[in-house]
Amino acid sequence: MGNPDRRLVVVANRLPVQMDEAGQWETSPGGLVSALAPLLKGRGGAWVGWPGSAGFDPGEFQVDGIDQVAVPLSAEDEDGFYHGFSNATLWPLYHDGVRPPEFHRTWWASYVEVNRRFAGKAASIAGRGDLVWVHDYQLQLVPAMLRALRPDVRIGFFLHIPFPPVELFSRLPWRSAITEGLLGADVVAFQTRKDAQNFAASARRFGGATGPDWRRLSHDGRVVRVDRMPIGIDVAGFHALATSDEVRRIAGDLRRHTGNPRKLVLGVDRLDYTKGIDVRLRAFQTVLERESLGPEDVQFLQIAVPSREAVPLYQETREEVERLVGQINGENARAGRPAVHYLYRSVDPEDLVGAYLAADVMMVTPLRDGMNLVAKEYVVSRVDETGVLILSEFAGASEQLGQALLVNPHDVDQMAATLVRALEMDEAEQRRRMRALRRVVTSSDVFDWAEKCLSMLVEE
Ligand code: ADP
Ligand code: G6P
Repeated sequence: MGNPDRRLVVVANRLPVQMDEAGQWETSPGGLVSALAPLLKGRGGAWVGWPGSAGFDPGEFQVDGIDQVAVPLSAEDEDGFYHGFSNATLWPLYHDGVRPPEFHRTWWASYVEVNRRFAGKAASIAGRGDLVWVHDYQLQLVPAMLRALRPDVRIGFFLHIPFPPVELFSRLPWRSAITEGLLGADVVAFQTRKDAQNFAASARRFGGATGPDWRRLSHDGRVVRVDRMPIGIDVAGFHALATSDEVRRIAGDLRRHTGNPRKLVLGVDRLDYTKGIDVRLRAFQTVLERESLGPEDVQFLQIAVPSREAVPLYQETREEVERLVGQINGENARAGRPAVHYLYRSVDPEDLVGAYLAADVMMVTPLRDGMNLVAKEYVVSRVDETGVLILSEFAGASEQLGQALLVNPHDVDQMAATLVRALEMDEAEQRRRMRALRRVVTSSDVFDWAEKCLSMLVEE
Protein backbone atom coordinates (compact mmCIF):
# COMPACT_ATOMS: atom_id res chain seq x y z
CA MET A 1 0.00 0.00 0.00
CA GLY A 2 2.98 2.33 -0.39
CA ASN A 3 3.83 4.99 2.16
CA PRO A 4 1.48 4.38 5.11
CA ASP A 5 1.96 7.94 6.37
CA ARG A 6 -0.19 9.36 3.62
CA ARG A 7 -3.70 9.83 4.83
CA LEU A 8 -6.69 9.05 2.64
CA VAL A 9 -9.39 11.56 1.78
CA VAL A 10 -12.43 10.06 0.04
CA VAL A 11 -14.61 12.47 -1.92
CA ALA A 12 -18.02 11.18 -3.01
CA ASN A 13 -21.41 12.75 -3.62
CA ARG A 14 -22.89 11.10 -0.52
CA LEU A 15 -21.43 10.74 2.95
CA PRO A 16 -21.29 7.06 4.02
CA VAL A 17 -23.73 7.69 6.88
CA GLN A 18 -27.44 8.13 7.40
CA MET A 19 -29.64 9.13 10.28
CA ASP A 20 -31.60 6.43 12.07
CA GLU A 21 -35.11 6.88 13.44
CA ALA A 22 -33.77 8.23 16.75
CA GLY A 23 -31.83 10.96 14.90
CA GLN A 24 -28.44 9.23 15.45
CA TRP A 25 -25.90 8.85 12.64
CA GLU A 26 -25.19 5.30 11.53
CA THR A 27 -22.93 3.92 8.81
CA SER A 28 -24.85 3.21 5.58
CA PRO A 29 -24.90 -0.37 4.32
CA GLY A 30 -23.00 -1.19 1.13
CA GLY A 31 -19.79 -2.71 -0.18
CA LEU A 32 -17.98 0.54 -1.01
CA VAL A 33 -18.41 1.88 2.51
CA SER A 34 -17.35 -1.37 4.17
CA ALA A 35 -14.25 -1.59 1.93
CA LEU A 36 -13.11 1.98 2.52
CA ALA A 37 -13.85 2.12 6.25
CA PRO A 38 -10.84 -0.02 7.34
CA LEU A 39 -8.54 1.93 5.01
CA LEU A 40 -9.74 5.24 6.40
CA LYS A 41 -9.32 3.97 9.94
CA GLY A 42 -5.89 2.46 9.21
CA ARG A 43 -4.37 5.47 7.49
CA GLY A 44 -6.42 8.20 9.07
CA GLY A 45 -8.22 10.65 6.85
CA ALA A 46 -11.74 11.72 6.14
CA TRP A 47 -14.77 11.30 3.90
CA VAL A 48 -16.08 14.43 2.16
CA GLY A 49 -19.69 14.28 0.93
CA TRP A 50 -23.24 15.59 0.86
CA PRO A 51 -25.27 14.69 3.97
CA GLY A 52 -28.24 13.85 1.72
CA SER A 53 -30.88 16.50 2.33
CA ALA A 54 -31.07 20.03 1.00
CA GLY A 55 -30.31 22.89 3.38
CA PHE A 56 -28.78 20.60 6.02
CA ASP A 57 -25.23 21.28 7.26
CA PRO A 58 -23.97 19.06 10.10
CA GLY A 59 -20.40 20.36 9.56
CA GLU A 60 -17.60 17.98 10.58
CA PHE A 61 -18.31 15.00 12.84
CA GLN A 62 -17.25 11.41 13.49
CA VAL A 63 -19.17 8.18 12.99
CA ASP A 64 -17.67 4.75 13.83
CA GLY A 65 -14.19 6.29 14.02
CA ILE A 66 -14.34 7.98 10.59
CA ASP A 67 -14.20 11.77 10.13
CA GLN A 68 -17.15 13.01 8.12
CA VAL A 69 -16.89 16.36 6.34
CA ALA A 70 -20.21 17.65 5.03
CA VAL A 71 -20.63 19.59 1.80
CA PRO A 72 -24.07 21.16 2.18
CA LEU A 73 -26.38 21.65 -0.83
CA SER A 74 -29.18 24.19 -1.03
CA ALA A 75 -32.52 23.27 -2.62
CA GLU A 76 -31.33 25.03 -5.81
CA ASP A 77 -28.09 23.00 -5.81
CA GLU A 78 -30.07 19.81 -5.34
CA ASP A 79 -32.21 20.73 -8.29
CA GLY A 80 -29.51 21.87 -10.72
CA PHE A 81 -26.51 19.76 -9.68
CA TYR A 82 -28.10 16.53 -8.41
CA HIS A 83 -31.50 16.01 -10.03
CA GLY A 84 -30.57 18.05 -13.09
CA PHE A 85 -27.03 17.75 -14.46
CA SER A 86 -26.01 14.56 -12.59
CA ASN A 87 -29.19 12.57 -13.02
CA ALA A 88 -31.01 13.98 -16.04
CA THR A 89 -27.97 14.91 -18.20
CA LEU A 90 -25.02 12.66 -17.32
CA TRP A 91 -26.85 9.56 -16.08
CA PRO A 92 -28.87 8.91 -19.27
CA LEU A 93 -26.01 10.03 -21.58
CA TYR A 94 -23.49 7.73 -19.91
CA HIS A 95 -25.95 4.81 -19.96
CA ASP A 96 -25.85 4.61 -23.76
CA GLY A 97 -28.47 7.35 -24.09
CA VAL A 98 -31.25 4.82 -23.32
CA ARG A 99 -33.33 7.91 -22.50
CA PRO A 100 -32.66 11.34 -24.04
CA PRO A 101 -30.30 13.41 -21.90
CA GLU A 102 -31.38 16.99 -21.22
CA PHE A 103 -28.92 19.82 -21.72
CA HIS A 104 -29.49 23.01 -19.71
CA ARG A 105 -26.87 25.70 -19.16
CA THR A 106 -28.24 26.53 -15.70
CA TRP A 107 -27.77 22.90 -14.61
CA TRP A 108 -24.19 22.99 -15.89
CA ALA A 109 -23.51 26.21 -13.95
CA SER A 110 -24.77 24.50 -10.79
CA TYR A 111 -22.62 21.38 -11.48
CA VAL A 112 -19.49 23.57 -11.83
CA GLU A 113 -20.30 25.49 -8.67
CA VAL A 114 -20.98 22.40 -6.54
CA ASN A 115 -17.89 20.59 -7.88
CA ARG A 116 -15.86 23.67 -6.89
CA ARG A 117 -17.29 23.44 -3.38
CA PHE A 118 -16.31 19.75 -3.07
CA ALA A 119 -12.80 20.49 -4.39
CA GLY A 120 -12.41 23.41 -1.98
CA LYS A 121 -13.45 21.29 0.99
CA ALA A 122 -11.10 18.44 0.03
CA ALA A 123 -8.26 20.95 -0.48
CA SER A 124 -8.82 22.46 2.93
CA ILE A 125 -8.65 19.19 4.86
CA ALA A 126 -6.01 17.17 2.94
CA GLY A 127 -2.56 17.09 4.50
CA ARG A 128 0.64 17.49 2.50
CA GLY A 129 1.01 14.66 -0.04
CA ASP A 130 -2.20 12.90 1.05
CA LEU A 131 -4.12 10.55 -1.23
CA VAL A 132 -7.44 11.94 -2.43
CA TRP A 133 -9.82 9.47 -4.02
CA VAL A 134 -12.75 11.03 -5.91
CA HIS A 135 -15.78 8.91 -6.84
CA ASP A 136 -18.27 8.90 -9.66
CA TYR A 137 -20.01 10.98 -12.32
CA GLN A 138 -21.32 13.68 -9.98
CA LEU A 139 -17.76 14.93 -9.33
CA GLN A 140 -15.86 14.75 -12.61
CA LEU A 141 -14.55 18.33 -12.38
CA VAL A 142 -13.10 17.84 -8.91
CA PRO A 143 -9.73 16.32 -9.96
CA ALA A 144 -8.59 19.36 -12.02
CA MET A 145 -10.09 21.86 -9.57
CA LEU A 146 -8.31 20.17 -6.68
CA ARG A 147 -5.00 19.97 -8.55
CA ALA A 148 -5.17 23.73 -9.16
CA LEU A 149 -5.57 24.29 -5.40
CA ARG A 150 -3.31 21.51 -4.11
CA PRO A 151 -0.71 20.28 -6.63
CA ASP A 152 1.03 18.33 -3.81
CA VAL A 153 -1.69 15.68 -3.27
CA ARG A 154 -2.11 12.44 -5.27
CA ILE A 155 -5.51 12.34 -6.95
CA GLY A 156 -7.39 9.21 -8.01
CA PHE A 157 -10.77 9.04 -9.71
CA PHE A 158 -13.07 6.02 -10.08
CA LEU A 159 -16.15 6.05 -12.31
CA HIS A 160 -18.75 3.57 -11.05
CA ILE A 161 -20.96 3.89 -14.15
CA PRO A 162 -20.11 3.33 -17.84
CA PHE A 163 -18.12 5.88 -19.84
CA PRO A 164 -19.91 6.28 -23.18
CA PRO A 165 -18.40 5.79 -26.63
CA VAL A 166 -16.92 8.95 -28.13
CA GLU A 167 -19.79 9.26 -30.67
CA LEU A 168 -22.25 9.62 -27.79
CA PHE A 169 -20.05 11.62 -25.43
CA SER A 170 -19.37 14.18 -28.16
CA ARG A 171 -23.00 15.38 -27.93
CA LEU A 172 -22.28 16.89 -24.53
CA PRO A 173 -21.86 20.67 -24.87
CA TRP A 174 -19.38 20.57 -21.95
CA ARG A 175 -17.31 17.61 -23.23
CA SER A 176 -13.99 19.48 -23.08
CA ALA A 177 -14.49 20.71 -19.52
CA ILE A 178 -15.44 17.22 -18.32
CA THR A 179 -12.47 15.45 -19.93
CA GLU A 180 -10.10 18.17 -18.69
CA GLY A 181 -11.64 17.82 -15.23
CA LEU A 182 -10.90 14.07 -15.15
CA LEU A 183 -7.41 14.52 -16.60
CA GLY A 184 -6.55 16.49 -13.47
CA ALA A 185 -6.24 13.11 -11.69
CA ASP A 186 -3.07 11.00 -11.55
CA VAL A 187 -5.10 7.81 -12.01
CA VAL A 188 -8.51 7.52 -13.70
CA ALA A 189 -10.08 4.07 -13.30
CA PHE A 190 -13.17 2.41 -14.76
CA GLN A 191 -15.24 -0.76 -14.35
CA THR A 192 -14.35 -2.28 -17.75
CA ARG A 193 -11.65 -2.05 -20.40
CA LYS A 194 -14.18 -0.63 -22.87
CA ASP A 195 -15.06 2.24 -20.49
CA ALA A 196 -11.36 3.04 -20.02
CA GLN A 197 -10.74 3.02 -23.77
CA ASN A 198 -13.83 5.16 -24.41
CA PHE A 199 -12.51 7.71 -21.95
CA ALA A 200 -9.05 7.71 -23.51
CA ALA A 201 -10.57 8.33 -26.95
CA SER A 202 -12.60 11.30 -25.66
CA ALA A 203 -9.67 12.62 -23.62
CA ARG A 204 -7.57 12.70 -26.81
CA ARG A 205 -10.31 14.25 -28.90
CA PHE A 206 -11.66 16.85 -26.45
CA GLY A 207 -9.29 17.11 -23.47
CA GLY A 208 -5.96 17.68 -25.23
CA ALA A 209 -4.49 14.37 -24.01
CA THR A 210 -1.81 12.78 -26.20
CA GLY A 211 0.20 9.60 -26.44
CA PRO A 212 -0.25 6.28 -28.25
CA ASP A 213 -0.91 4.16 -25.15
CA TRP A 214 -4.43 4.52 -23.69
CA ARG A 215 -3.13 3.38 -20.30
CA ARG A 216 -0.64 6.27 -20.07
CA LEU A 217 -1.95 9.54 -21.46
CA SER A 218 0.13 12.71 -21.46
CA HIS A 219 -1.58 15.87 -20.37
CA ASP A 220 -0.20 19.21 -19.28
CA GLY A 221 3.31 17.81 -18.86
CA ARG A 222 2.10 14.94 -16.62
CA VAL A 223 1.29 11.28 -17.14
CA VAL A 224 -2.33 10.31 -16.40
CA ARG A 225 -2.75 6.59 -15.84
CA VAL A 226 -5.97 5.04 -17.12
CA ASP A 227 -7.07 1.52 -16.20
CA ARG A 228 -9.86 -0.94 -15.62
CA MET A 229 -10.52 -1.94 -12.02
CA PRO A 230 -13.76 -3.94 -11.86
CA ILE A 231 -15.33 -3.52 -8.42
CA GLY A 232 -16.18 -6.57 -6.33
CA ILE A 233 -18.44 -7.22 -3.35
CA ASP A 234 -17.93 -8.08 0.32
CA VAL A 235 -17.67 -11.82 -0.38
CA ALA A 236 -17.17 -12.90 3.25
CA GLY A 237 -20.08 -10.74 4.41
CA PHE A 238 -22.49 -12.25 1.88
CA HIS A 239 -21.21 -15.75 2.56
CA ALA A 240 -21.80 -15.29 6.29
CA LEU A 241 -25.34 -14.07 5.66
CA ALA A 242 -26.11 -16.87 3.19
CA THR A 243 -25.05 -19.56 5.66
CA SER A 244 -26.78 -18.07 8.71
CA ASP A 245 -29.77 -19.84 10.25
CA GLU A 246 -31.83 -16.68 10.19
CA VAL A 247 -31.39 -16.12 6.46
CA ARG A 248 -32.11 -19.79 5.67
CA ARG A 249 -35.31 -19.48 7.68
CA ILE A 250 -36.28 -16.30 5.80
CA ALA A 251 -35.67 -18.09 2.49
CA GLY A 252 -37.82 -21.05 3.59
CA ASP A 253 -40.59 -18.74 4.77
CA LEU A 254 -40.55 -16.91 1.45
CA ARG A 255 -41.03 -20.14 -0.48
CA ARG A 256 -43.85 -21.20 1.86
CA HIS A 257 -45.61 -17.84 1.80
CA THR A 258 -45.63 -17.83 -1.99
CA GLY A 259 -47.31 -21.26 -1.85
CA ASN A 260 -44.19 -23.17 -2.92
CA PRO A 261 -44.29 -22.59 -6.67
CA ARG A 262 -42.20 -25.04 -8.70
CA LYS A 263 -39.88 -22.11 -9.59
CA LEU A 264 -39.31 -18.64 -8.17
CA VAL A 265 -37.72 -15.95 -10.36
CA LEU A 266 -36.18 -12.84 -8.80
CA GLY A 267 -35.30 -9.27 -9.82
CA VAL A 268 -33.59 -6.79 -7.44
CA ASP A 269 -32.81 -3.25 -8.57
CA ARG A 270 -33.06 0.43 -7.78
CA LEU A 271 -36.16 1.54 -9.64
CA ASP A 272 -34.31 3.05 -12.59
CA TYR A 273 -35.09 3.01 -16.32
CA THR A 274 -31.56 1.71 -17.00
CA LYS A 275 -32.38 -1.53 -15.15
CA GLY A 276 -34.80 -2.83 -17.81
CA ILE A 277 -37.42 -3.91 -15.25
CA ASP A 278 -40.32 -3.31 -17.64
CA VAL A 279 -38.84 -5.34 -20.52
CA ARG A 280 -37.98 -8.13 -18.05
CA LEU A 281 -41.61 -8.24 -16.86
CA ARG A 282 -42.78 -8.44 -20.47
CA ALA A 283 -40.48 -11.41 -21.00
CA PHE A 284 -42.00 -13.11 -17.95
CA GLN A 285 -45.51 -12.34 -19.24
CA THR A 286 -44.59 -13.88 -22.59
CA VAL A 287 -43.37 -17.07 -20.90
CA LEU A 288 -46.60 -17.40 -18.87
CA GLU A 289 -48.69 -17.05 -22.04
CA ARG A 290 -46.59 -19.18 -24.39
CA GLU A 291 -46.01 -22.03 -21.96
CA SER A 292 -49.46 -21.80 -20.32
CA LEU A 293 -47.89 -21.57 -16.88
CA GLY A 294 -49.78 -20.61 -13.73
CA PRO A 295 -48.64 -19.30 -10.33
CA GLU A 296 -48.25 -22.86 -9.05
CA ASP A 297 -45.56 -23.36 -11.73
CA VAL A 298 -43.66 -20.10 -11.54
CA GLN A 299 -43.81 -16.76 -9.73
CA PHE A 300 -41.77 -13.61 -10.05
CA LEU A 301 -40.54 -11.49 -7.13
CA GLN A 302 -39.42 -7.98 -8.05
CA ILE A 303 -37.79 -5.94 -5.28
CA ALA A 304 -37.38 -2.31 -6.36
CA VAL A 305 -35.67 0.35 -4.25
CA PRO A 306 -37.14 3.85 -4.55
CA SER A 307 -34.63 6.13 -6.26
CA ARG A 308 -34.45 9.76 -7.49
CA GLU A 309 -38.20 10.14 -7.17
CA ALA A 310 -38.13 13.87 -7.99
CA VAL A 311 -36.85 13.19 -11.53
CA PRO A 312 -39.81 12.85 -13.97
CA LEU A 313 -38.32 9.90 -15.92
CA TYR A 314 -38.13 7.91 -12.67
CA GLN A 315 -41.79 8.66 -11.93
CA GLU A 316 -42.74 7.49 -15.43
CA THR A 317 -40.67 4.33 -15.08
CA ARG A 318 -42.38 3.51 -11.79
CA GLU A 319 -45.82 4.01 -13.35
CA GLU A 320 -44.97 1.69 -16.25
CA VAL A 321 -43.56 -1.02 -13.99
CA GLU A 322 -46.59 -0.88 -11.69
CA ARG A 323 -48.99 -0.91 -14.65
CA LEU A 324 -47.30 -4.04 -15.98
CA VAL A 325 -47.36 -5.77 -12.58
CA GLY A 326 -51.09 -5.05 -12.38
CA GLN A 327 -51.70 -6.25 -15.91
CA ILE A 328 -49.73 -9.50 -15.50
CA ASN A 329 -51.46 -10.28 -12.21
CA GLY A 330 -54.85 -9.35 -13.67
CA GLU A 331 -54.35 -11.92 -16.40
CA ASN A 332 -52.46 -14.66 -14.55
CA ALA A 333 -52.96 -14.55 -10.76
CA ARG A 334 -55.35 -16.75 -8.83
CA ALA A 335 -56.99 -15.56 -5.63
CA GLY A 336 -54.26 -15.56 -2.97
CA ARG A 337 -51.61 -16.54 -5.56
CA PRO A 338 -50.12 -13.63 -7.51
CA ALA A 339 -47.92 -14.25 -10.55
CA VAL A 340 -45.75 -11.23 -9.70
CA HIS A 341 -44.87 -10.05 -6.17
CA TYR A 342 -43.72 -6.45 -6.21
CA LEU A 343 -42.01 -4.62 -3.33
CA TYR A 344 -41.25 -0.91 -3.78
CA ARG A 345 -38.90 -0.41 -0.85
CA SER A 346 -35.43 -1.06 0.48
CA VAL A 347 -35.07 -4.37 2.34
CA ASP A 348 -32.69 -5.49 5.12
CA PRO A 349 -29.56 -7.44 4.13
CA GLU A 350 -31.06 -10.59 5.73
CA ASP A 351 -34.23 -10.35 3.64
CA LEU A 352 -32.24 -9.54 0.52
CA VAL A 353 -30.00 -12.61 0.87
CA GLY A 354 -33.06 -14.65 1.91
CA ALA A 355 -34.57 -13.74 -1.46
CA TYR A 356 -31.32 -14.70 -3.27
CA LEU A 357 -31.43 -18.11 -1.55
CA ALA A 358 -35.09 -18.66 -2.33
CA ALA A 359 -34.80 -17.80 -6.04
CA ASP A 360 -34.19 -20.54 -8.62
CA VAL A 361 -33.53 -17.95 -11.32
CA MET A 362 -32.17 -14.42 -10.97
CA MET A 363 -32.82 -11.97 -13.81
CA VAL A 364 -30.31 -9.10 -13.97
CA THR A 365 -31.20 -7.42 -17.24
CA PRO A 366 -30.17 -3.74 -17.27
CA LEU A 367 -30.22 -1.93 -20.61
CA ARG A 368 -26.86 -0.58 -19.47
CA ASP A 369 -24.99 -0.83 -16.17
CA GLY A 370 -21.48 0.08 -15.01
CA MET A 371 -20.99 -3.25 -13.20
CA ASN A 372 -24.12 -4.51 -11.37
CA LEU A 373 -23.38 -5.77 -7.91
CA VAL A 374 -26.68 -7.62 -7.53
CA ALA A 375 -25.45 -10.22 -10.05
CA LYS A 376 -22.33 -10.83 -7.97
CA GLU A 377 -24.29 -10.92 -4.70
CA TYR A 378 -26.63 -13.61 -6.06
CA VAL A 379 -23.70 -15.77 -7.16
CA VAL A 380 -21.90 -15.52 -3.80
CA SER A 381 -25.11 -16.23 -1.90
CA ARG A 382 -25.71 -19.51 -3.81
CA VAL A 383 -23.54 -21.54 -1.47
CA ASP A 384 -25.15 -24.83 -2.61
CA GLU A 385 -24.03 -24.04 -6.21
CA THR A 386 -27.51 -24.27 -7.72
CA GLY A 387 -29.52 -21.47 -9.30
CA VAL A 388 -29.36 -19.77 -12.69
CA LEU A 389 -28.21 -16.22 -13.43
CA ILE A 390 -29.65 -14.52 -16.50
CA LEU A 391 -27.43 -11.51 -17.20
CA SER A 392 -27.56 -8.61 -19.62
CA GLU A 393 -24.68 -8.40 -22.05
CA PHE A 394 -24.76 -4.63 -21.40
CA ALA A 395 -23.90 -4.94 -17.69
CA GLY A 396 -20.21 -4.41 -16.90
CA ALA A 397 -20.39 -7.67 -14.92
CA SER A 398 -20.86 -9.64 -18.17
CA GLU A 399 -17.17 -9.01 -18.99
CA GLN A 400 -16.34 -11.30 -16.03
CA LEU A 401 -19.44 -13.51 -15.78
CA GLY A 402 -19.48 -15.27 -19.14
CA GLN A 403 -20.93 -18.46 -17.59
CA ALA A 404 -24.25 -16.73 -16.89
CA LEU A 405 -26.99 -17.00 -19.52
CA LEU A 406 -26.26 -13.77 -21.39
CA VAL A 407 -29.14 -11.91 -23.02
CA ASN A 408 -29.89 -8.79 -25.01
CA PRO A 409 -32.11 -6.92 -22.51
CA HIS A 410 -34.01 -5.17 -25.33
CA ASP A 411 -35.10 -8.48 -26.89
CA VAL A 412 -38.29 -9.70 -25.19
CA ASP A 413 -38.45 -12.94 -27.19
CA GLN A 414 -34.84 -13.88 -26.56
CA MET A 415 -35.23 -13.16 -22.85
CA ALA A 416 -38.42 -15.24 -22.74
CA ALA A 417 -36.69 -18.16 -24.48
CA THR A 418 -33.72 -17.83 -22.09
CA LEU A 419 -36.04 -17.78 -19.09
CA VAL A 420 -37.67 -21.03 -20.29
CA ARG A 421 -34.20 -22.53 -20.67
CA ALA A 422 -33.30 -21.39 -17.14
CA LEU A 423 -36.52 -22.84 -15.68
CA GLU A 424 -35.77 -26.19 -17.33
CA MET A 425 -32.02 -26.34 -16.73
CA ASP A 426 -30.94 -29.57 -15.04
CA GLU A 427 -29.02 -29.46 -11.80
CA ALA A 428 -25.74 -30.65 -13.33
CA GLU A 429 -25.61 -27.70 -15.73
CA GLN A 430 -26.69 -25.28 -12.99
CA ARG A 431 -23.82 -26.46 -10.81
CA ARG A 432 -21.26 -26.38 -13.61
CA ARG A 433 -22.13 -22.77 -14.42
CA MET A 434 -22.58 -21.58 -10.84
CA ARG A 435 -19.24 -23.08 -9.78
CA ALA A 436 -17.47 -21.16 -12.55
CA LEU A 437 -19.30 -17.95 -11.64
CA ARG A 438 -18.51 -18.34 -7.97
CA ARG A 439 -14.82 -18.89 -8.76
CA VAL A 440 -14.68 -15.54 -10.56
CA VAL A 441 -16.65 -13.51 -8.02
CA THR A 442 -14.89 -14.91 -4.96
CA SER A 443 -11.40 -14.53 -6.47
CA SER A 444 -11.32 -10.76 -5.91
CA ASP A 445 -13.52 -8.93 -3.42
CA VAL A 446 -14.21 -5.26 -2.80
CA PHE A 447 -11.32 -5.09 -0.30
CA ASP A 448 -8.87 -6.32 -2.99
CA TRP A 449 -10.36 -3.76 -5.36
CA ALA A 450 -9.79 -0.87 -2.93
CA GLU A 451 -6.21 -2.03 -2.23
CA LYS A 452 -5.42 -2.31 -5.95
CA CYS A 453 -6.84 1.14 -6.68
CA LEU A 454 -4.85 2.68 -3.85
CA SER A 455 -1.58 0.95 -4.76
CA MET A 456 -1.93 2.31 -8.27
CA LEU A 457 -2.42 5.76 -6.78
CA VAL A 458 0.66 5.67 -4.59
CA GLU A 459 2.94 4.54 -7.46
CA GLU A 460 4.57 7.71 -8.73
P1 ADP B 1 -26.81 0.52 -8.64
O1 ADP B 1 -25.49 0.93 -8.04
O2 ADP B 1 -27.06 1.09 -9.99
O3 ADP B 1 -27.98 0.72 -7.75
P2 ADP B 1 -25.84 -2.23 -8.24
O4 ADP B 1 -26.52 -3.52 -8.56
O5 ADP B 1 -24.43 -2.15 -8.67
O6 ADP B 1 -26.72 -1.06 -8.89
O7 ADP B 1 -25.87 -1.96 -6.67
C1 ADP B 1 -27.09 -1.91 -5.98
C2 ADP B 1 -26.87 -2.23 -4.51
O8 ADP B 1 -28.07 -1.93 -3.82
C3 ADP B 1 -26.57 -3.71 -4.28
O9 ADP B 1 -25.59 -3.84 -3.29
C4 ADP B 1 -27.91 -4.27 -3.79
O10 ADP B 1 -27.79 -5.31 -2.85
C5 ADP B 1 -28.56 -3.09 -3.14
N1 ADP B 1 -30.03 -3.19 -3.30
C6 ADP B 1 -30.69 -3.29 -4.46
N2 ADP B 1 -32.03 -3.40 -4.23
C7 ADP B 1 -32.19 -3.36 -2.89
C8 ADP B 1 -33.33 -3.37 -2.01
N3 ADP B 1 -34.59 -3.43 -2.44
N4 ADP B 1 -33.09 -3.28 -0.71
C9 ADP B 1 -31.85 -3.17 -0.23
N5 ADP B 1 -30.76 -3.14 -1.00
C10 ADP B 1 -30.91 -3.21 -2.32
C1 G6P C 1 -25.31 4.40 -8.48
C2 G6P C 1 -24.25 5.49 -8.62
C3 G6P C 1 -23.89 6.07 -7.25
C4 G6P C 1 -25.15 6.49 -6.52
C5 G6P C 1 -26.13 5.33 -6.41
C6 G6P C 1 -27.45 5.71 -5.73
O1 G6P C 1 -24.74 3.34 -7.82
O2 G6P C 1 -23.10 4.99 -9.27
O3 G6P C 1 -23.02 7.18 -7.41
O4 G6P C 1 -24.83 6.99 -5.23
O5 G6P C 1 -26.42 4.87 -7.72
O6 G6P C 1 -28.00 6.83 -6.33
P1 G6P C 1 -28.28 8.19 -5.52
O7 G6P C 1 -28.67 9.16 -6.60
O8 G6P C 1 -29.38 7.88 -4.58
O9 G6P C 1 -27.01 8.58 -4.82
